[in-house]
Amino acid sequence: MDKKVLNGLLRPKSVAVIGASNTPGKIGYSVVDNLIKDGYQGKIYPINPSSPEILGLKAYPTITDVPGSIDAAIVTVPAKIVPAMAEECGKKGVKGFIVITSGFSEVGRKDLEQQIVDTAHQYGMCVLGPNIVGTLSNSDKFNGSFAPCLPLAGKASLISQSGALLIALDAATYTRKVGFDKLVSIGNMSDVDFADIVEWLDEDEKTSCISLYIEGFKDGRRFIEAAQKTKKPIIALKSGVSAHGAAAAASHTGSLAGAAKVYGAAFRQAGVIQAADLNDLFNKTQAFSEQPAMKGDNLLIITNGGGVGVLATDAAERYGLPLKFAPEDVQAELKKHMPEFGSAKNPVDITGMGGNEWYYDCVKYAFAHKWVDGLVVLYCETAVTNPQEIAESIKKAVVDSKVKDKPVTVSFVGGERCDAAMGWLVENGIPAYGAPDLAVQTMAGLRDYAKLHEKKASFDFKSNAKARKTALEIVAAARADGRNALTEIEAKQVFKAYGLPVTDTQLAKSEDEAVTLAKKVGFPLVMKIVSPDILHKSDAGGVKVNIKDEAGVRDAFKTIMANAKKYKADANIHGIAIQEMAPMGTEVIMGSVNDPTFGPTMMFGLGGIFVEVLKDVTFRVAPIADDQAVEMIGEIRGAPILAGVRGEAPRDRKALAETITKYSNMILDMQDEIAETDANPVLVYEDGKGLKVVDARMILKKK
Ligand code: ACO
Repeated sequence: MDKKVLNGLLRPKSVAVIGASNTPGKIGYSVVDNLIKDGYQGKIYPINPSSPEILGLKAYPTITDVPGSIDAAIVTVPAKIVPAMAEECGKKGVKGFIVITSGFSEVGRKDLEQQIVDTAHQYGMCVLGPNIVGTLSNSDKFNGSFAPCLPLAGKASLISQSGALLIALDAATYTRKVGFDKLVSIGNMSDVDFADIVEWLDEDEKTSCISLYIEGFKDGRRFIEAAQKTKKPIIALKSGVSAHGAAAAASHTGSLAGAAKVYGAAFRQAGVIQAADLNDLFNKTQAFSEQPAMKGDNLLIITNGGGVGVLATDAAERYGLPLKFAPEDVQAELKKHMPEFGSAKNPVDITGMGGNEWYYDCVKYAFAHKWVDGLVVLYCETAVTNPQEIAESIKKAVVDSKVKDKPVTVSFVGGERCDAAMGWLVENGIPAYGAPDLAVQTMAGLRDYAKLHEKKASFDFKSNAKARKTALEIVAAARADGRNALTEIEAKQVFKAYGLPVTDTQLAKSEDEAVTLAKKVGFPLVMKIVSPDILHKSDAGGVKVNIKDEAGVRDAFKTIMANAKKYKADANIHGIAIQEMAPMGTEVIMGSVNDPTFGPTMMFGLGGIFVEVLKDVTFRVAPIADDQAVEMIGEIRGAPILAGVRGEAPRDRKALAETITKYSNMILDMQDEIAETDANPVLVYEDGKGLKVVDARMILKKK
């Protein structure tokens, strides 16, 4: 989206309020009142057909009557007249059309919403909303909303899809002491969406980190691409992850691909830190807006209390940042600033005797030491210390250490004096929390962020024209046959075209042909029914394994055919697959769904018959680069099995990663045709010996 247009929307130099009113309690009154009371310096033009003056400002009957140019129009008139207002604003050269009004796609009036967007686009205008609270900016003293006030000033900016939540968070910024520069309500996202504003905020010098409250993206892929390019940290709280997608899935992958998993994967790929809940969103926003990322794993905790030290230690392990003992030189120096019975190991316990000086000395030394990558400072209120003085000692030590590229977080546990001291710390740029685990949790977030950005994921992808041609032919034949699922043999042909290692599988239409093909494939072998009407082959008695000779082939052919007919008398039977019997290996699963938000999305995990019970799977949005594939292999609970447990040789994870990458390319290249796929099981062998896709399923998009 054009930057100048977004500037007009988010930092307007002049603003019209269409539907401005003199009646207190009306939104059109509130918006004008907010603009005036919060000190907006630009021009304000109230628009109202019957009032010549509103809240002391000259009002105009229509926007066309306004003499000067107007950057943004805030709309607070009923829905049915909003399209006409869009036309007038477009003609007037307005850049940002901010629609507070409700009553559009959220109540089934997508048509009305689209009409506004179409009109706006004719005139090069953008639309924010509809169904929003408006936008707020502390640095511009701009409260173009009906939220009660500008938020507590700070360096973060928030984009919220829920208007009500934005209002609630706005007020809470004061009690939670988390400061924001901009709050943007985006409601129905008819035009301007998360990606547009994220890109704009990335360039905004008043914003140091971007917080998001998301109910759902319209185009998830575009968000990932925008976020990947963003230089500032993004923290996202996604709601509505409990009931999504899982219904009516035709594959294992489809049934496992809930919103929590898919959004989680997309956020990782986008380099976005996920918040668990509203509290976590606030806590992380506070840390990310003031502190740099934690660039290494060495976390040091300094405390005056053993209990909170242990709680923080537990939290460090829980959030993936386990403590290590501090090196000898660090311990030796810190020992000088604590009583004999203190501990310098990590957590560094300066004991209840720890006062201002010891806090100062330990924090200053430790923070500057090269071994320390991040510092958490804890304090329990005692009768012999003053929380405010401790806070000031910590702040002074941090400043005097001259360290600017490492993070520090703090937790004070105690009463009102602690709360006041923490308030002071926050005002002075040091995030402080009421519980030790929160100080550690946010620090772990700062570490996760650095790790995510060590190797930025990219969406580079090249179509494989040759494989695609083969695959399209197979798909076309199946569609001509009236099917929307490929047979196993067809699916494997598609897999093979994209370079996936499938077991050699041939289709026999008669018993004699089965014998001929069996000799080609070699013994022992597996025989399976091939019928679009029989998806669960084993349940139908349609699979025979370990067939060793010609007599076995003839016998199996007859039995499978008879079983299949018994299972479904009118089944359309293509024949019987004669398949090489792959040696046993570690069973994994690969699969994909065409997610409504993110498009082709791939799953990998431990496979076999328990896959839906154990759910040991992980997701990524395609395409998946090699290093991302390696990450997927390493992040499932069963990763040690693939690494080799109890004397077993490690599995061929290199070949596995390559196969994941190829698989992701296949589903992306064929995204207009493929709905869901499964490769289950895939047998993975020892290092250097590769893997084999033993069974394959491919469901086509309905056309
Ligand atoms: N040009 C300019 N002003 C006009 C025009 C026009 N063509 N036509 C009418 N007006 C004036 C009206 O005369 C009125 O001013 P007045 O008080 O001087 O008479 C003013 O515009 C507002 O019009 P009303 O008909 O009084 O509408 P009302 O204020 O009751 O409601 C509103 C309008 C607020 C837009 C309503 O339709 C609406 O959508 N409410 C929900 C908004 C909302 O909650 N959005 C955020 C969702 S997120 C969340 O839930 C927090």
